[in-house]
Amino acid sequence: MSVIVFQVQSILIFSLILFGIYLIKQRKVSSHVKTMKIAMAWDILLILQIELNRGAIAKASKVIQNALILNIHVLLAVGTVVLYAFVFRSGGKVLSGDRSIYLTHKRLGVYTVAARFLTLVTSFMI
Ligand code: HEM
Repeated sequence: MSVIVFQVQSILIFSLILFGIYLIKQRKVSSHVKTMKIAMAWDILLILQIELNRGAIAKASKVIQNALILNIHVLLAVGTVVLYAFVFRSGGKVLSGDRSIYLTHKRLGVYTVAARFLTLVTSFMI
């Protein structure tokens, strides 16, 4: 599968996350939740596609030989997935009425968007 297929999916996933933020600004909470869950699930699937096609994990593990930009890209990609877990968990708590977590979720959300954006940008540099 060519790199273009991965890049197009990656751009679509990031656009979906931005759309998810737009929805929450429009106070459409349930659409925000659905959109973000689809974007996060699709992103995990994309990582699996890249792994199955390119042996990405074996390649990523050669940290010493790899170009610095590849190591930075892998760090950002892994960081994004870790943030997905936290933003998912905090979002669920806010959804179930725990407003004390709201600001944490919002902050984690901003970090997640930033990490995903940098993952996209560095993917064009490797
Ligand atoms: C990549 C994933 C996600 C990101 C980046 C994200 C980001 C955000 C941001 C930035 C806000 C605050 C918006 C504002 O008020 O200015 C927000 C609110 C919220 N998010 Fe998420 N979110 C994500 C996933 C989720 C998930 C998975 C859930 C639920 C399971 C969720 C539930 C909520 C809820 C309930 C609110 C508050 C709505 C209100 O004002 O009552 N989010 N999210």
